[in-house]
Amino acid sequence: MPRQAKAEYNFYHESPETSEFHRDVIAGLNRQPRTIPPKYFYDHAGSMLFEAICEQPEYYPTRTEAALLKQYAVEIAAEAGNGCYLIEPGSGSCEKVRHLLEAMRPAAYVPLDISCEHLDRAAAGVACDHPWLDVHAVCADITEEVALPFVPEHAPAVMFYPGSSIGNFDPVDACEFLKCLAQAAGRGSGLLIGVDLKKSPAILDAAYNDSKGVTAEFNQNLLRRINRELAGDFNIDAFAHHAFYNTARGRIEMHLISECKQSVRIDGHRFEFNDGDSIHTENSYKYTVEEFQALARSAGFSPRRVWTDAASLFSLHFLRAD
Ligand code: AVJ
Repeated sequence: MPRQAKAEYNFYHESPETSEFHRDVIAGLNRQPRTIPPKYFYDHAGSMLFEAICEQPEYYPTRTEAALLKQYAVEIAAEAGNGCYLIEPGSGSCEKVRHLLEAMRPAAYVPLDISCEHLDRAAAGVACDHPWLDVHAVCADITEEVALPFVPEHAPAVMFYPGSSIGNFDPVDACEFLKCLAQAAGRGSGLLIGVDLKKSPAILDAAYNDSKGVTAEFNQNLLRRINRELAGDFNIDAFAHHAFYNTARGRIEMHLISECKQSVRIDGHRFEFNDGDSIHTENSYKYTVEEFQALARSAGFSPRRVWTDAASLFSLHFLRAD
């Protein structure tokens, strides 16, 4: 008898407080260059916009990675081992893991995400579609230390970190983050990670400047969120989306550029902008296979397998913590 999905679905809440958002925005806008951490893109509207980005024809990572997961699910499952404890930091819509679940048959699935409402719906959907699976959703900021709801006695841990989210960290922080994952999941645990590859700047620039303007909306939604949650008075239309590939640093940069001289108030704080001033909202680092493997090694992982598509757009790595 399959168990009832409802009975096995658990939800835990550890996501950041508004006060943390307030603090990071005020501090970030007082800094030079002005920066706001990309994790704040993902309020409910932002999560929906990100999903829309993933469907744009220019944004190749999502569909390329999905095709790799689908094509190599059996090989991936063989690396992961049977009945693993599958942990997905930053699970978003939980769509990608669906390509793996039947081949992998994990003992438990633990999605973690900063966007609670979104996580709740996505995780409940997975639980409902796979009644045999234990699902334990944790709403949390994965850039902070997270307590996992339970640790399986005898199941090996496998972490799943798709979508090239690792690209949001600069390489030093990415190494730290991978070390934290290795420590959290323990020696011998697996990590299946999706990493966007270095490629022609034209392809990269197009992916972050889709013709429908969804990425621009996603970027500007950060200011909308500040207006909504922190009583800001940003004139959204006076800040333009600007995204480009910085070849020297191997990263896409996203900015919001002030289109005039203006001042903005947020909860009693005042910020002055000149025409052309930037708020740096995101970096998205790109790696060659070799560069990423070197990074993984320095974080205490041994590269086991790597899968790439025929056009070398995207890579999927299976690593094991030493
Ligand atoms: C979720 C960080 C992988 O860097 O491609 C997409 C976010 N930003 N378009 C990326 C994003 C603009 C995305 N990651």
